[in-house]
Amino acid sequence: MKKKSLVLLLALAMIFTFALSACGGGGSSEESSDAGEETAVLKVVTEATFAPFESTEDGDDTIIGFDPDMMAAIAEDQGLELEWVNMEFDSLIPALQSDQGDIICAGMNKLAGDRAEKVDFGDTYFESDLMLLVTSDSDLTGIDAVTSDMKLASQIGTTGGDMVQEMQDEGKIAAGVVLNQWTDCYLQLQNGDVQGVIVDKPVGEAYLNAHSDIAKFVGDSFGDHEEFAFAVQKGNTELLDKLNAGLAELKENGTYEELVAKWFS
Ligand code: ARG
Repeated sequence: MKKKSLVLLLALAMIFTFALSACGGGGSSEESSDAGEETAVLKVVTEATFAPFESTEDGDDTIIGFDPDMMAAIAEDQGLELEWVNMEFDSLIPALQSDQGDIICAGMNKLAGDRAEKVDFGDTYFESDLMLLVTSDSDLTGIDAVTSDMKLASQIGTTGGDMVQEMQDEGKIAAGVVLNQWTDCYLQLQNGDVQGVIVDKPVGEAYLNAHSDIAKFVGDSFGDHEEFAFAVQKGNTELLDKLNAGLAELKENGTYEELVAKWFS
């Protein structure tokens, strides 16, 4: 009798071990095997209406821009495999907190609010300020000329979005309109639904390159001095060290400058 229960116990243990290995570990990264070598595919989350950092072209889900090119070069340098997931900007940090993503790369300002309490940011890869974008026929001369009957738009969860909501709370504007996509902000500006869009300067410049006949910047930059950085889940220093090392290498070997010239000239 004893021998039988021992054999049964061993069989159960083997089945359990097999089941466990077939399910794989936790975490958002999937395994990719190549000649038996297991390489975790890291999930990069972003919001892709933020050209020239990240955007998609009509009818194509492929994300293009400075950020994908920079991260691809870092991944190559550090032997990482990446896949990109496009989602709403205010879902990016929760995605890392809930293990639904490994890296944020989205022109995200690492100095803003309590972001650095929730995720770990890497070294700065771009510096920027906010600007006020208006229609080309607007009489506005800058953010200080905005009146309390006006509406300003920006993207939800961003520094611009926080600013328009703050201006509404302070009664400086009638409404701070926060929208999921930058493309919707530009549309509301052109439709006359809002009188201005608060946007990151390099992104507004990219929009003006294609729409200088219908829009313009007014006033100086807000001097909020944003520092864009990628971010990883809190405590993932191993991955963060790799990303920082890759960025340093790009800056050292000239790739960074080439990408800046490609996307911001
Ligand atoms: N730099 C601003 C921020 O950190 C806007 C970022 C928006 N990025 C995007 N991919 N939509 O809040």
